[in-house]
Amino acid sequence: TTVSVSATASHPIPTTLWGQMFEDISHVRESVRIFFKGLNPPRAGMEDCTPNCSKIALFNKLPQHCNKDTTAALNAWLPIGESSINVVADPSPLSSALPNSLVLVIPPNVKRDVGFANTGYWGINFVKDTQYTASLNYRVPAFLSPLNSPPTLTISLLAEDGSTLAAHSTELALVDGWTEVDIVLTPDRTPPSLANRFAVTVSNATHTSPAGIEVHFALLSLFPPTFKGRKNGMRTDIAQALADAKPAFFRFPGGNNLEGQTTATRWQWRNTVGPLSQRPGRVGDWSYINTDGLGLLEYLHWCEDLDMEPFMAVWDGYSLGGSSVTGDALGPFIAEAIEQINFVIGDPNTSEAAALRASLGHAEPFKLRFVEIGNEDFVGQAPGTVASRWNWFATNLSATFPQLHFMATSRSSGPALTPTPEIYDAHNGLRQTHSYTTLCRLRNGIKFFEGEYASTSTNSSNLYGTPEQGRLLWPTVAASVGEAAFMMGFERNADIVFSSSYAPLLGHVNNSQWTPNLVGFDAGKVYKSTSYHVQKVRTAPSPPLLTATPQLFANNRGDEYLPSTLPNNSTSATLIWSVTRWTATNQLIIKISNSAAASQDLTFVLPFESVSSVGSLELLTGAATTSNTPAAPDLIAPVASRIPVGTIFNYTAPATSFSIITLTAQ
Ligand code: AHR
Repeated sequence: TTVSVSATASHPIPTTLWGQMFEDISHVRESVRIFFKGLNPPRAGMEDCTPNCSKIALFNKLPQHCNKDTTAALNAWLPIGESSINVVADPSPLSSALPNSLVLVIPPNVKRDVGFANTGYWGINFVKDTQYTASLNYRVPAFLSPLNSPPTLTISLLAEDGSTLAAHSTELALVDGWTEVDIVLTPDRTPPSLANRFAVTVSNATHTSPAGIEVHFALLSLFPPTFKGRKNGMRTDIAQALADAKPAFFRFPGGNNLEGQTTATRWQWRNTVGPLSQRPGRVGDWSYINTDGLGLLEYLHWCEDLDMEPFMAVWDGYSLGGSSVTGDALGPFIAEAIEQINFVIGDPNTSEAAALRASLGHAEPFKLRFVEIGNEDFVGQAPGTVASRWNWFATNLSATFPQLHFMATSRSSGPALTPTPEIYDAHNGLRQTHSYTTLCRLRNGIKFFEGEYASTSTNSSNLYGTPEQGRLLWPTVAASVGEAAFMMGFERNADIVFSSSYAPLLGHVNNSQWTPNLVGFDAGKVYKSTSYHVQKVRTAPSPPLLTATPQLFANNRGDEYLPSTLPNNSTSATLIWSVTRWTATNQLIIKISNSAAASQDLTFVLPFESVSSVGSLELLTGAATTSNTPAAPDLIAPVASRIPVGTIFNYTAPATSFSIITLTAQ
């Protein structure tokens, strides 16, 4: 195959082309940051209460989310010694947002330490000489018999064999009001497994009260070191993996998890900001409770830390149960969206929401240009979705924030919307690389955000079935090479495709509601998939030749697109290429996806007087069905080398491969 490249660019490559999409799915929101289940024991215990709990929540005026007094509410919490533990609706709770407490009952005449432990998000990783920040709140309601001496409260980190890695003791305050304890624990060794525990025990509590002494606990947490030392921030290893992919934007908070099964259980920004004790959490859309400890302000800090543009979504009247709020009834929800945006960019002198932001330490507005209205609503297409919602939200929000760009969440094939959206988040799904050359050109003048795509299955007639039906558990080399071809379609059509993001971004490998995910993790490690390696894109020109670490897509964006011989436009095409250029350095970036089971030869013809004789090659290849998994996390990784290039040069793309050739040409 001969590929003739034009010297003249046809369109710029937008800076926003490659980014990341985040939602709380597969337990990512808590387990990317804290080390055990939930910030509040009741919610911790509710983790594995399945949809029945959401039904209960519908009838429960308090944000209880789940049945108290059940063993399910104690999931991941274990009693220590002769104690009993339970989750109760506390008559004097830590806050109205957190009405439940974990109650430790110390029986009379107890001889040994009593307490409870938490087993974490399927394990806890402790590393020698690393600082872990623990905090909890407790109160001791009235007790009847005096103690001989004050009891001691000990917070410790335990290894699987029960030995102590680190501990801190303090006198237990025998007062009924809430006492907060914040300490740092540093393990003296690295235990051999992840089956470790966080423990809270009371010593020296011998008493004779027949009913036992109660100690109520709330808002317990244990943080490992966080990215850039952010309080309430992200686990450093996961954060670093995301940062290394150099995303230009961050789409949040969903995904389906924005929507709620009902209007009442939608994501609500106000419940996610302020002190953790004021965040009630909610029944999320992926069968577990969200604590909302990672809230709107933390998302915005994360954007600042990685220099990403927020692509923030507002709830737009549709919930997953299949009903829409319509007409005048949308008023309060439009007001809620306006406040949410004001929290991000408003003036503290004129907006209460912006003043709240300032009171939380960020007086300056955050950077915000793009707001997404809803998630994947297919407005007017799916049953229960009502297209006029777009008009209500777009008209009102544009009038209030004329400087912002609003994205509609409808398919490109959906009904025409009024006013005409400037941008669609299309969720067309992974199709052939030419999707945007044909289908989406029908929407004259509209720009597209491909906000969620991934190769999900080997079975094109059942994309979301079971593994037996072809659903992928992990991205495979073939899947990732296919995604690369799809992504080249974005480059070729970057005059109308302004951004894209793979989804889902993250998944806890021990309890996942969706596969495949771009990055998997467990309590101790991060697993970068083959698709992650493809996604990494260079956001600035690299040195002319080899970079030390191979970086694929995102680190090789280029700022303009050079037309070249058009690849075969059929669904069976296996060889796809695309050429972009960094204008400042005259670097040409040639990407090639070969999804065939055999290698394929290409000859590139470059219309430039001076072309470097040596180029850099970054190559991802492997057996089509292989994946990076926890058992073999680094099986497939891009490899860098030098290859001969010139005004005319040959390249053999290996079977099932994605190649990036970088050279200088002028
Ligand atoms: O990425 C998983 C889900 O896929 C998202 O929550 C939803 O928007 C899409 O259907």
